Amino acid sequence: MGTHQVQKVCIIGASGKLGQYMVQHALDRGYEVVGVCRERSVPKLARFADRMTLIPGPTNDRDVIRAAVAGCDGVLTVLAPWGVRQYSSGTAQAVLDFAAPGARLVFSCGWHISKDGQDLYSWQFKAGVRVVTWLARALRAVDVDDQVEACRRIFASNRRWTVVRGSDLEEGESQGLPVWSHHVGDPMLASNRTRRVDYAHFMVEALTDDSLIQAAPAIVGCRTESALAHASRAPAPA
Ligand SMILES: NC(=O)c1ccc[n+]([C@@H]2O[C@H](COP(=O)([O-])OP(=O)(O)OC[C@H]3O[C@@H](n4cnc5c(N)ncnc54)[C@H](OP(=O)(O)O)[C@@H]3O)[C@@H](O)[C@H]2O)c1
Repeated sequence: MGTHQVQKVCIIGASGKLGQYMVQHALDRGYEVVGVCRERSVPKLARFADRMTLIPGPTNDRDVIRAAVAGCDGVLTVLAPWGVRQYSSGTAQAVLDFAAPGARLVFSCGWHISKDGQDLYSWQFKAGVRVVTWLARALRAVDVDDQVEACRRIFASNRRWTVVRGSDLEEGESQGLPVWSHHVGDPMLASNRTRRVDYAHFMVEALTDDSLIQAAPAIVGCRTESALAHASRAPAPA
């Protein structure tokens, strides 16, 4: 799958739900793990305390990110979901600026991000995005969807990045590695549901998958109805 050797990874946003699953997957692979999270969220990582290095601080603080990514050959970044003032773009920019040359950089975001404008969204999806964006602005006085700006900067960079675009997420036991498509609108993705633990698995796998470099895969759970229907139509191996 890949040529990239990973020994030490940095996980930015390690204390969130997705972040904690990524910490577990990375430790399971024997990677040395450095995590960054807000000071007040440190207790959420208590169960990993003796198995990882934790750097508390705002995840958009450039000095914090510079220290955390030093010596890492992979960086997994949770781009803050919605409308927090310049949190996602500040984090993404710091990772792009300070990660080691050649490091694999994997970022999380939602389906609403489009790399090339070729995604086809249902009216229900578009309406949902509009409502959440409006609410985020109204409640937090944010002018732009900062995750969009973060991804614009990532897409423009010549680093070895992957932007993993998550469907709606749910908790539950693993169903296996999600399947993916280059574009939302692919019928394979129609179920719009992925287990968070599997999203985290995909993020960690991406570190060593060269086919995902400078790609923005849109993922869906491999056991969802739409993914299974697609698999049943796929030609049998020769
Ligand atoms: N939720 C969904 O259905 C969904 C769908 C598609 C894609 N995604 C993507 O999946 C990723 C994880 O999202 P999630 O919804 O599952 O949440 P999550 O894993 O809990 O992650 C939220 C992250 O944002 C941080 N955060 C929250 N509020 C913040 C604030 N005011 N200032 C700074 N940081 C803040 C959290 O840090 P603390 O631990 O310090 O609070 C945490 O690291 C995101 O990149 C999101 O775009 C989510």
